[in-house]
Amino acid sequence: MSHSIAVIKGDGIGPEIMDATLRVLDALECGFEYEFVDAGLSALENHGTLIPQASLDAIEKHGIALKGPLTTPIGKGFSSINVQLRRHFDLYANVRPAISFPGTRSRFEDIDMITVRENTEGAYLSDGQEMIDDGNTGISVIKVTRKGSERIVRYAFELAKSSGRKKVTAVHKANIIKTSSGLFLDVAREIASEYPDIEFQEMIVDNACMQLVMNPHQFDVVVTTNLFGDILSDLCAGLVGGLGLAPGANIGERAAIFEAVHGSAPDIAGKKLANPCALLLAAAQMLDHLGMADKGETIRHGIRTVLETRRDMVTPDIGGTGNTDTFAQALVEYIHA
Ligand code: NAI
Ligand code: MG
Repeated sequence: MSHSIAVIKGDGIGPEIMDATLRVLDALECGFEYEFVDAGLSALENHGTLIPQASLDAIEKHGIALKGPLTTPIGKGFSSINVQLRRHFDLYANVRPAISFPGTRSRFEDIDMITVRENTEGAYLSDGQEMIDDGNTGISVIKVTRKGSERIVRYAFELAKSSGRKKVTAVHKANIIKTSSGLFLDVAREIASEYPDIEFQEMIVDNACMQLVMNPHQFDVVVTTNLFGDILSDLCAGLVGGLGLAPGANIGERAAIFEAVHGSAPDIAGKKLANPCALLLAAAQMLDHLGMADKGETIRHGIRTVLETRRDMVTPDIGGTGNTDTFAQALVEYIHA
């Protein structure tokens, strides 16, 4: 079956890492049809908006988007496109795998875990939903709903089940933030009881930070609310070698958007220095999502092999002497070998 996909090349290093990623997808013969859609700085220039309606329509039509990083202009009244996209398509699950790869200067080996972050509520509300901001007192709101908690915890358990994972850890602060975090924890316990084959663990967020740094191998799937998930998933990216290797999926009922966690890296744009791995790993998540997990695994295994054997082909951020294009070339050669 052939799938059609909306592709946003993105700003800064976006086009370079997207070209590398599409080369690898082509080598895998995924049979995708791409519609390239405009967003970010080029869209602002051409259409006067960072994300034109036509681009939203294309994502809606295909239901799947692969997205390069986008620059949010600072201090010009623009709100983040990523946040806009998450809201527009109700992309409630932010799924961020943290997998160890060889030769990446990380502290640990053999980490293989996934953070599932609630992406639509928690402490990250729309403008106007904040309570008080009078210059002397700032009061923000944390919103947790039963529906929002149910769907994210269920997503985490279903992901564990479908990917052969054994344990789900719900991270919370229910001891202090009793109303909202307490509701999340109550719902997590209820949903967990529907999955007797998967171990359920509860952990208070401060302890979770310490445990992640001391003994990350105890974690498998972590599910948590928006703010904790934002922080913990970056911590996890740090455990496995940093931004160049951190992919993320934003998943909802109507659409799913796959992207690198890092930004548009204007400091290295146009120099072919960008590591394409994060976007490639996001593409691997997309393949898993579309029922082509074997091809997703080929990408992950290919990256592992190239990192181990072709230091001359990988990018300088992870100690290689190659560039974006040679990294892609090495992966294409791996696939054809
Ligand atoms: P950044 O992630 O773009 O860069 C941080 C540092 O990491 C830089 O030194 C950069 O060179 C390096 N880096 C990032 N990705 C890399 C890669 N693939 N290979 C090698 N080195 C890499 O974060 P920064 O500088 O805070 O943001 C730059 C722009 O990106 C901003 O306009 C920001 O709004 C946007 N941004 C967009 C995101 C998205 O679209 N998902 C996410 C984060 C930031
Ligand atoms: Mg973040």
